[in-house]
Amino acid sequence: MFHELSHINRRPEPFEFYTADRLWTDPHIAQKMLGLHLDDSVDAASRSGKFIDRSAKWIIGNFGLDGGASVVDFGCGPGLYTMRFAAAGAEVTGIDFSRNSLDYAVKKANENSLKIDYIHDNYLYYSSDRKFDLITMIMCDFTALSPLQRKNLLLKFHGLLKPGGSVLLDVYTLAWFNSKKEQAVYGFNSMNGFWSRDDYYCFLNTFRYENEKVLLDKYTVYTAKEKKQIFNWAQCYDREEIADEFERSGLRIVEFLGDVSGTEYDADADEFALVARKK
Ligand SMILES: C[S@@+](CC[C@H](N)C(=O)[O-])C[C@H]1O[C@@H](n2cnc3c(N)ncnc32)[C@H](O)[C@@H]1O
Repeated sequence: MFHELSHINRRPEPFEFYTADRLWTDPHIAQKMLGLHLDDSVDAASRSGKFIDRSAKWIIGNFGLDGGASVVDFGCGPGLYTMRFAAAGAEVTGIDFSRNSLDYAVKKANENSLKIDYIHDNYLYYSSDRKFDLITMIMCDFTALSPLQRKNLLLKFHGLLKPGGSVLLDVYTLAWFNSKKEQAVYGFNSMNGFWSRDDYYCFLNTFRYENEKVLLDKYTVYTAKEKKQIFNWAQCYDREEIADEFERSGLRIVEFLGDVSGTEYDADADEFALVARKK
């Protein structure tokens, strides 16, 4: 018991474990995730349909997607943005490692006669000779990656951009970091059976890493048969810190925004968005 409790409560080094595949590709969790993506009343997995409508409209206008520009969406999920981009006339690629979400995205594209190139891949390993006018990565997925993964991803973006092309992504703010407290809680079948179809106990430990401005929600899930741990990291930023990170990979941030629908930047909000180009 003491050994198990120590394991549950152990504070890992920042980004010591990468378990995104456990979170997104486990068949049971992927089903639950798809439910969240498509649930208009919650901003979880995807933002609400209203926000996505507003955001896609702004992205289409701002980056000329209605004029046939090419866009690749990293972590496209069930295609809520890619569908809208393609319907506006863009040449669209979506990458995701959730088979369940991509099956939904492909079905919807076929139903609506939309031509979208969906790629089932881990975006950390994606490579292509193709070049794009726009790269999107929406819903703060960038912040779940370690410094090394982020560096390599930005170098990848650099290689995938056409001259004059843009990156659009969103991240968490320091205000959001400061609003979070450490906690250790547990529950039986918590989050409405999200973690397993079998009965389980789920322990949630939230850790703050003050120097690095990193948050971790660490989930330890026990069923009668197995134990699994999921590490949900979030790197939080101010504008200077992320501008430095982009500069180091040959990208220059040209605009800070409140979110990916083009609102005004607000340091006190939970998130902000940015547009970057090749230096
Ligand atoms: C928070 S969701 C956002 C989905 C979509 N961008 C949206 O806003 O509707 C993150 C998505 O990224 C995908 N994802 C996370 N890590 C990934 C990786 N390493 N490779 C490919 N897809 C990944 C997940 O499967 C999920 O669909």
